[in-house]
Amino acid sequence: ARLAILLSGRGSNMVALVQAVQGGVLQELAEVAVVFSNKPDAPGLETAAALGCATASLGSQGRKRQEFDADVVEVLNRYRPDYIVLAGYMRILSPTFIRAFAGRILNIHPADTHQHQGLHAYEWAFDNQLPETKITVHLVDEGLDTGPVLAQQPVDLRGAATLQEVERRGLAVEHQLYAATLAGLIQGKLTVPDAALAAPDSPT
Ligand code: GRF
Repeated sequence: ARLAILLSGRGSNMVALVQAVQGGVLQELAEVAVVFSNKPDAPGLETAAALGCATASLGSQGRKRQEFDADVVEVLNRYRPDYIVLAGYMRILSPTFIRAFAGRILNIHPADTHQHQGLHAYEWAFDNQLPETKITVHLVDEGLDTGPVLAQQPVDLRGAATLQEVERRGLAVEHQLYAATLAGLIQGKLTVPDAALAAPDSPT
């Protein structure tokens, strides 16, 4: 399967995915078609290039969401992706984007999406002194972190004294769960809820 990995920042999940493709659970299952960013100066883009990935970017600053997303769809389609893998892509996707890749867009969220949506999920877990949090890989729909859950894995947060420690433990789980979930999906071992695959209605 051909992956388009989308990021806006650091790209540690991207690195984990590329490593899984190059010599881990995604070897012989996936290839990285492109690493794309809405931030031309995202550190993750440079890292991706250094890892040998094709990269592309389009600055989103000041652009209308719908129009920007239409341009992104056009760029991504040049790489014929089977899956769009969001890895710290800090944009809410417009219906234009969602419909272009319906049922084939994945995201990773550092909390149980039924309990916490949006930014700052590790801060939320830390501030509330949660004994555990759940990393979630889900399909992306038109809401914010509302799509069907594909996989979850708990992170033990007991004794984590700092936010940095919460993040360190969480990211370690993120990095292996994302690749493993993609591998399961590509191999047909994960059932994707029918609703997520239903053909979208005519655009409204
Ligand atoms: C991760 O915590 C991910 O779960 C969230 O954004 C962060 C991205 O980190 N969606 P990185 O850029 O992959 O290092």
